Amino acid sequence: MLDWESTTQLPNNATPAPKPVNVEDKRVINGETDVNQLAPFKYPWAWEYFMNANKNHWTPLDINMAQDVHDYHHRLSSAEKHLYENVLAYLTTSDILAMRNIGLAVMEKMTAPELQIYQARQVYEESLHTWTYQHCIETLNLDQQEIYNRYRIVPQIHHKIQIANQRLNAAMSPSINLKNHDDLHEFIMSYLFFAAVFEGCWFYNGFSPIFALQRRGLMRGTGEQLQYILRDEAMHFSFGLKVVNQILDEENITLDPQAVMEMWHESEAAEMAYAKYILPQPILGYSSDYHSEQFRFIANRRARAINQPEPFPGAKNVSPWLDEQANMRKEKNFFESRVIEYQTGASLEW
Ligand SMILES: [Fe+2]
Ligand SMILES: [Fe+2]
Repeated sequence: MLDWESTTQLPNNATPAPKPVNVEDKRVINGETDVNQLAPFKYPWAWEYFMNANKNHWTPLDINMAQDVHDYHHRLSSAEKHLYENVLAYLTTSDILAMRNIGLAVMEKMTAPELQIYQARQVYEESLHTWTYQHCIETLNLDQQEIYNRYRIVPQIHHKIQIANQRLNAAMSPSINLKNHDDLHEFIMSYLFFAAVFEGCWFYNGFSPIFALQRRGLMRGTGEQLQYILRDEAMHFSFGLKVVNQILDEENITLDPQAVMEMWHESEAAEMAYAKYILPQPILGYSSDYHSEQFRFIANRRARAINQPEPFPGAKNVSPWLDEQANMRKEKNFFESRVIEYQTGASLEW
């Protein structure tokens, strides 16, 4: 048995070794245990997320985009091009924002390393997603100046990014003090928005318009790229919601139900305006009403995950195929791309 109090033969200016980490003292935030010591785990589920994330490894170069080049230039209608380009323009700005939020605002506030390790992987994955969109943009030879500036020019795209910036900036403020109740509530609302809305709805449902093209045999390479991203995002928001629940429990704080409801309605209004912009008219098998209804259905699901009332009671699951996209396995790689079973773990649960 080691004597942890022993300070024999220490130089005069050395401080005694600290006591060993007691797992019960670890906390998601506001903890005081050693953040450089991984185990013992208080949150073994966070380590499992890290293990599972490493089973979904790919790079955009693995997927054959040759047919997409042909489709874009010869098969897409102008309405389909409008849809494709604007979805890409929204996604690429969003994923940079996601990377910065996790890496700069959220991760540094975690006081248990098993949480930070998964978030470090998440930061990498968000940058991989940004590379994926850039790979699509380059491969199709789209005008980068035009595509990357689109979110500034199109009000319906800009508004979604603006809402995200406003809600996420609160957590980036260096003066935020998580021991103060109001600051803590603001941080939780910010992380909740990020996990439940930004990743859990806007990303989760945001790929659907391109999946709708993919299901008609168009832009199948892009569709497959987005399936890999969707798998990552499904884990990101599921992890984020688990962290939010854990913080609420540990810090003994309850969410302001009115603030949560306002968050849902603000997000829905922005999503409906965006859907109408990208889909001014229905495209075979997909429409703005369809997109917005699926947003509401998914929002209800995310609300239940944090024990909050459904914001949109009665919303219908109009795209049941979306969940299947997130559970892509080898047999789902039915197109001409390289057949590799990247994901070897069990199905995701969220
Ligand atoms: Fe992402
Ligand atoms: Fe993400």
